[in-house]
Amino acid sequence: MGGRTSAGGATPGVSGESPPRAPGQAPAVAAPTIRLASPRDLDVVLAIRCEAILALAPERVTLEEARRWAERPDRAAKTLASIEGGRLWLDESAGEAAGWLEVRADFVDGLYVRPRLWRRGHGSRLMDVAETMIRERGFAAVRLDASSTAQSFYQRRGYMVSGPRDPGRGTPMSKELLPRA
Ligand SMILES: CC(C)(COP(=O)(O)OP(=O)(O)OC[C@H]1O[C@@H](n2cnc3c(N)ncnc32)[C@H](O)[C@@H]1OP(=O)(O)O)[C@@H](O)C(=O)NCCC(=O)NCCS
Repeated sequence: MGGRTSAGGATPGVSGESPPRAPGQAPAVAAPTIRLASPRDLDVVLAIRCEAILALAPERVTLEEARRWAERPDRAAKTLASIEGGRLWLDESAGEAAGWLEVRADFVDGLYVRPRLWRRGHGSRLMDVAETMIRERGFAAVRLDASSTAQSFYQRRGYMVSGPRDPGRGTPMSKELLPRA
């Protein structure tokens, strides 16, 4: 992928770097901003993922199991490789990192929002960006593997189950994309 310029130029809601702030100046309450993550964002990206997994833990697994999974030692290296590959997008609203999205070709490989910011539209905005990018790459559909807790979020966006659930990966879902008007 061409990174910031190819997706950032034509994709609504996506920008380049955040505007610079003078030292000590409060973050501007800006329009929602979604930008390519950089290696400097690695810690916040890992923290958001960990928070989201731990917030769901009581519903699905023990806290200990969730923590082990969220903090797997290979995770930081894999996430850094995704950032360096230009596949990871960060949603920074009102001056803080609210969530992130990973897209590989036509596949949404990760979507996480900070639990205290759930149900405020961050997940939807990130998915709008994913779908626009994937359409612009010439694909006719978006694919993803949905966790059981997120399946109805995707169904509300028009995703359909496309195969049997794999306990390790989730439920395959897809959504046909309408060509751009
Ligand atoms: C799934 C997730 C990304 C949704 O993010 P979000 O910012 O809360 O989503 P939005 O606020 O854009 O919600 C959009 C709509 O879906 C609904 N929704 C959000 N999460 C939902 C869920 N888990 N189940 C059912 N509906 C959900 C919202 O109520 C909202 O409906 P509305 O527009 O009628 O109010 C977030 O809950 C998350 O990070 N979950 C943990 C990680 C995860 O499961 N990721 C997906 C991996 S496949």
